Amino acid sequence: MIMQGENFRRTRDGIRLFSDADFVGMHEAGALASQILDEICDLVYPGQTTEVLDKFVEDKVKAAGAISATIGYRGYQHASCISTNHVVCHGIPSSKKLKDGDILNIDVTVIVNGWYGDTSRMYVAGKLSRKVERLIQVTHDSLLKAIEVVKPGNTFGDIGHAIQSYVEGERMSVVRDFCGHGLGRVFHAPPNVLHYGRPGSGPVLEEGMFFTIEPMVNLGRPETKVLADDWTAVTRDKSLSAQFEHSIGVTSTGYEIFTLSKKNRFHPTYS
Ligand code: MF3
Ligand code: CO
Ligand code: CO
Repeated sequence: MIMQGENFRRTRDGIRLFSDADFVGMHEAGALASQILDEICDLVYPGQTTEVLDKFVEDKVKAAGAISATIGYRGYQHASCISTNHVVCHGIPSSKKLKDGDILNIDVTVIVNGWYGDTSRMYVAGKLSRKVERLIQVTHDSLLKAIEVVKPGNTFGDIGHAIQSYVEGERMSVVRDFCGHGLGRVFHAPPNVLHYGRPGSGPVLEEGMFFTIEPMVNLGRPETKVLADDWTAVTRDKSLSAQFEHSIGVTSTGYEIFTLSKKNRFHPTYS
């Protein structure tokens, strides 16, 4: 048996650099994940269960001839993570009914022709209080501000700083215990994309890098803990938490977002 070397480039930090043709594959995977999150909007209401939402995701992935990246991933058994209220991330779909005013993040990762598309957004069951509306707005805007700094020559520290400085200026906190990640032909690749940091620190962004940015923002303190199910991460102080996630690629002049909402439903109040 002859061992084949990798036929692509990596940076000194071990970050894979993809070709122009690879962007096409990522757009297809990202579009499916995003479309599923567009279509699930109408199913989110008080009395609905998160396991019904998860079944919807699973069916849509199958109907598209794609594969769920999360089913079987490190023992995880669902097509989505659904994180309600003080759940920060990796919430497990269940038969518990949503209540009026609940907020939830739905996170979907699909594999299309071997390419991974990973995205999540916030949803609201019923009516929303002003305080919670602000949490969702600040979290959403922190992701967009981070994406704005993505271009060759800037660093991953610049991305983290854009999020942290904005969120903390709004008197909210950035979760440190979970981060974004490189992706492409695998789910989680280098680098760890931190949602906090100092300008100019960390690896330098280069054309052809693919990664997620997925800030988690808490109304209270940033500390989290993982429950006995080994997945569900919650805020230690039980404060509400929100998250948005896009998969993006670095171009020669900036970025492309692979997981844009074609129906402009990324932000719950625009839907
Ligand atoms: N989609 C998540 C992320 O953004 C990972 C979920 S892994 C699972 O990286 F196993 F919890 F589904
Ligand atoms: Co991710
Ligand atoms: Co995700």
